[in-house]
Amino acid sequence: MGTMVTPRARFLPLEVPTQVCRAVGARTSFTVVEEATPRLNRCELYVPGTQEKIIPKAAKSKADVVVMDLEDSVASTQKETARKNVIKALKEVDFGSKTVAVRINGLYSHHMYRDVVDIIEQGGERCDVFIIPMVGNAKDVYMADALTSQVESFVGRKKRIGFGLIIEATMGMMNVDEIAAASKRNESLHFGVADYAASTKSRTTNIGGPNPNYGVLTDKVRDEPRDFFWGDPWHYAMSRIVVAARANGLRPIDGPFGDIADPDGYRAQCQRGSVLGMDGKWAIHPSQVAIANEVFSPSPQEVDRARRILEAMAKAEREGLGAVSLDGKLIDIASIKQARSEERRVGKECRSRW
Ligand code: GLV
Ligand code: MG
Repeated sequence: MGTMVTPRARFLPLEVPTQVCRAVGARTSFTVVEEATPRLNRCELYVPGTQEKIIPKAAKSKADVVVMDLEDSVASTQKETARKNVIKALKEVDFGSKTVAVRINGLYSHHMYRDVVDIIEQGGERCDVFIIPMVGNAKDVYMADALTSQVESFVGRKKRIGFGLIIEATMGMMNVDEIAAASKRNESLHFGVADYAASTKSRTTNIGGPNPNYGVLTDKVRDEPRDFFWGDPWHYAMSRIVVAARANGLRPIDGPFGDIADPDGYRAQCQRGSVLGMDGKWAIHPSQVAIANEVFSPSPQEVDRARRILEAMAKAEREGLGAVSLDGKLIDIASIKQARSEERRVGKECRSRW
């Protein structure tokens, strides 16, 4: 919460900033953070590129983003078949207004350049985003950007492909800030929890889930019974990604949850990501889509509160006050920013899809 602010604060410097990261977005310093291409990104449904019959079904799902995968869900012997299927789908399947993404292979593999070249040369204009796995540093993004730019330029592509970057190894996490700022194509950072666990050598029981051994035991107090509270082993990684993404105008997106028979567990993971500031989560099964859509959409109560905050602050400003109380709680200029971001999340398109 900010301190008491007089209406004068509204007229504090609004000159053109000397340094603009991306186009106009939230003003948090003299540097303006430009927001990446806006997209609904509550749920990203992954489909292995080998599953050609499932792709049209995913296109009809309620997921905001469909990701056709060429990386880890595709065996090395099937890479070419998967790539051909994906190119065919890009040309023939009706994805409606969805964002269409392809997870290409990582820079560690020779499949990567062929994915980029063939998808752009043969797949037409429908691919909106490349999801790039195992990004380790800014140079990886630079290389992907250069290659993508060359092929786009060669075919005269009208629409520029955006990048969703998966942070899923310790090197990527260490360099997450430079990665987030590495290209104008960047749109989102994703937490690839499965590979991240492998990279940190964490002990896991289910991809993206908690572990019964990670928690705290309350102190001994006389003879009272002690409680054990589970902790979230992924909290640091997720928060780190949220900060790097938001500071660069990108969407932070949570990765997979492996237990598809546990919708309550998936919902809980969506909720904690949403509370931390993430825009959405991956779905690795169609049954997860509705849950992510629901959790990452503002509830009617949140929308109502955002509207009432804006009304209360408009009245406060007319009265020369910078902070007032709403429902017994302090609200101030920072609350306006939160309410406005809630308003943006609602957006027309979002409402029509609930
Ligand atoms: C996703 O790629 C993951 O490793 O979780
Ligand atoms: Mg991975």
